[in-house]
Amino acid sequence: MTKRILGIIIALFLVLQAAAFAAETPAKPHVVILATGGTIAGAGVTSTTTVGYTAAVTPVDKLIANVPELAKVATISGEQVSQIASESMTMEIWLKLAKRVNQLLARDDVNGVVITHGTDTLEETAYFLNLVVKSDKPVVLVGSMRPGTAMSADGPLNLYRSVILAGAREAAGKGVFVMMNDTIHGARDVTKTITDRVDTFRSPEVGALGVFTGDRPVFYRQALRKHTVDSEFDVTGLATLPRVDIVYHYAGNQGTMIDAAVAAGAKGIVHAGTGNGSIAKAEYPAVENALKQGIIVVRSSRVGSGIIARNGEADDDKYGFVAADSLNPQKARILLMLALTKTNDAKEIQRMFWTY
Ligand code: SIN
Repeated sequence: MTKRILGIIIALFLVLQAAAFAAETPAKPHVVILATGGTIAGAGVTSTTTVGYTAAVTPVDKLIANVPELAKVATISGEQVSQIASESMTMEIWLKLAKRVNQLLARDDVNGVVITHGTDTLEETAYFLNLVVKSDKPVVLVGSMRPGTAMSADGPLNLYRSVILAGAREAAGKGVFVMMNDTIHGARDVTKTITDRVDTFRSPEVGALGVFTGDRPVFYRQALRKHTVDSEFDVTGLATLPRVDIVYHYAGNQGTMIDAAVAAGAKGIVHAGTGNGSIAKAEYPAVENALKQGIIVVRSSRVGSGIIARNGEADDDKYGFVAADSLNPQKARILLMLALTKTNDAKEIQRMFWTY
């Protein structure tokens, strides 16, 4: 009898201890990995193949299985959205991705989303999502510079940290992130700066938002330009985006590519000018023809960082140009495409460029 009572007391004690432990241990976050391709899903012939490998071959299930440590930090599920090298990214995939991210983050049982992506256009997808995701929950874009088959592949650690970041409470409300090489970048500021090295992603104007130390994300800054839940742009119901082309300026340019963009049906042109967004005299006839047809012309710079001063190198008020602020040409194109889903008014579009 005494033994039986003792047994019951011990069992009760163990149950209470387990309950106390469960109450103290926070549930693991649920992070969904959406895979789109890129080098992070790439494979080379040998362990030293770091150029000439094939991007976008490893499926999402295998990407997840290759990093068993992910299961320690989150409950993971994966979906294959596309399987492409990111130079082949399309506006249709962007819309599909954005709509899926919004669906997932609206669910109570999803804490964050990680998107695996080729590094070549990763900054563009990140900025697009920064403007159209309707949630405070973390969204993290991640890639790698070396394929998974390479010696010292950077993908597994980048992915592991992205999952931690996507499940971290302190990452909420800070916009879309790019997580590469121990560093947390904001989608608006980050750009790829080196063709072939793991430290290629930089935020040249204003710096990264934070870093990882071990398994812990540490933030030092916050993005102040509007994003996600504060953005006026919405992809619901959009099947495509208005055509916007980028025209790169160079010595001797006569405006031929502006004419080509107009002929191709562009609704907007981002002019990647020299210096502070200069437009050459020889280009003006082509530019004025574009403006006459209602095409919005945004002045940006091929320099890659710095602010385009309104009414500085061109009379923006006279011509009706829009100054790109500090967005590089590829990001100015994204904002212009979204702006054109709302308005064709250059002044209103300029307001958007000062806002996002
Ligand atoms: C790509 O962008 O898909 C290829 C290059 C890379 O992922 O680093």
